[in-house]
Amino acid sequence: MNENTPLVIANLKANKTWDEISTWLDVVAHYAEDFPGTLVLSPAFPFLSAASQKIKANGFKIKLASQDVSRFEQGAYTGEVAASQIKDLCQFAIIGHSERRQNFAESDEILSQKVLNAQNATIIPIFCVQDQSTPIAEGVEIVAYEPTFAIGSGNPDTPENAKAQAKEIKKRGAYTVIYGGSVSGQNAKSFVEKDLIDGILVATNSLDPQNFIRIIEAVSD
Ligand code: PGA
Repeated sequence: MNENTPLVIANLKANKTWDEISTWLDVVAHYAEDFPGTLVLSPAFPFLSAASQKIKANGFKIKLASQDVSRFEQGAYTGEVAASQIKDLCQFAIIGHSERRQNFAESDEILSQKVLNAQNATIIPIFCVQDQSTPIAEGVEIVAYEPTFAIGSGNPDTPENAKAQAKEIKKRGAYTVIYGGSVSGQNAKSFVEKDLIDGILVATNSLDPQNFIRIIEAVSD
């Protein structure tokens, strides 16, 4: 991966209006200035365009990720968003989040198609796995280890286990591995370790920008 680490991603899921996202960007951008790694905001599809314009206009050191891409390249697929349509709006795409696997029945085959479409659009997939044995689609460079029990539960994995899982995942390929699941300002630092866990994926504690700033600060040194 060419990005600087730690890689810290805020996944807003289906939360926040544009006004709230705009304020979030203003607050977090100030702290992004001196952040040594890479900060990524992942808002819902409708806000990628406005967020991208705002980031460019202000020179904010924040990148964008979509929360998904269509498995279809383009065409008659009502409601879908093709990777080729957002290629100028975001650098990354979260693919295979367990909420998509569970609620939208995304199979390994579908996820492989999504990864391929993202890559064809020069969008870097952030591929979520639930444990060290989850299949990883071909061509993926960034893997997010996100055990389902830890997501939104306030019950994170132990740093020891997360590191053991990251180690196993790295044996399977030259992946950048990040951890996600109930990351907070208190525990963020315990997960990130050079050459093992290269960053974090945060949802609940990214919604309040002040909580997210605590996380950024915790992993800054
Ligand atoms: P959480 O979710 O931070 O709310 O646990 C993580 C995620 O779903 O990516």
